[in-house]
Amino acid sequence: MDYGRSIIAIIRERTSRRSYTPQPIAPEILAALEASAAGLRGPFGGKARVVLLDTSAWGGASINALGTYGTIRGARIFMVGMIRRDSRAMEDFGHQFEQLVLKATDLGLGTCWIGGIFNRTRFAEKAGVGGDEILPAVSPLGYPTPSRSVADSVIRWSAGSRQRRPWSELFFHGGFREALTPEVAGPYHEALEMLRWGPSASNRQPWRVVKEPGRAVYHLFLCRSRGYDKLIKAVDLQRLDLGIAMSHFELASGELGLSGAWQTLAPSVGPLPERTEYIESWVGT
Ligand SMILES: Cc1cc2nc3c(=O)[nH]c(=O)nc-3n(C[C@H](O)[C@H](O)[C@H](O)COP(=O)(O)O)c2cc1C
Repeated sequence: MDYGRSIIAIIRERTSRRSYTPQPIAPEILAALEASAAGLRGPFGGKARVVLLDTSAWGGASINALGTYGTIRGARIFMVGMIRRDSRAMEDFGHQFEQLVLKATDLGLGTCWIGGIFNRTRFAEKAGVGGDEILPAVSPLGYPTPSRSVADSVIRWSAGSRQRRPWSELFFHGGFREALTPEVAGPYHEALEMLRWGPSASNRQPWRVVKEPGRAVYHLFLCRSRGYDKLIKAVDLQRLDLGIAMSHFELASGELGLSGAWQTLAPSVGPLPERTEYIESWVGT
């Protein structure tokens, strides 16, 4: 994926926007976004399909038509993503859809991952989701209003969206007992910091990373939030979060000149915390 400027700057700039002006998006901007979607593939091989839908004919961004219960205001265009069902489809989807969210940010557009409550059936119908596909998330696209709506501010406040967990809760060294410091992470500390600023469902930040001592090997784990996995049966929101984390880590590493690749290993990091499972490892070269 090509970005017009520093991906680290784009990651720092992105925040979820839930209220939009009526300003239309120029066709060439939409075309650029569509073109970027074509070249994507997830780290586990799955390919997301993305459709940009104009919802104005649905009665504008009316509450009932979109099913977002007024949390998204004023947006007409939605980026709708789908992917074939597969055991790693969620990570693959998160990885690719986030790259498009960042591309939209690069192009000056506001976005917001919507994976929770929205009219999934209606979006699926309009976007032509196939029988073997699943629609994990959509995002509004448009020019955000200069100030946030009350609904947006309330959601941000309740999710604590301006904050992220401290390093000591997310990043570890050798095993889950020892916290990883930016000094020990060395050149990778910025890539981890970019992972940390990724969006996640309800800002739960379920990603955990264990660095191998003395090697640029970073094992990624999913630590499920209690009671969160049952929220939506078909879509595992926290696996989407892990795919997003992988994209941020990988994109930032690329910009920092740190080469490597994702690999499935069997890391021996000692006992895992509760509700924690292994996802994948970054092996620096
Ligand atoms: C997989 C996923 C699903 C999300 N679903 C919703 C949603 O349904 N409604 C919503 O308002 N925000 C949703 N969000 C946005 C998060 O609340 C937001 O990313 C988080 O609070 C961090 O804030 P930020 O994106 O502004 O950094 C979702 C985010 C992710 C990654």
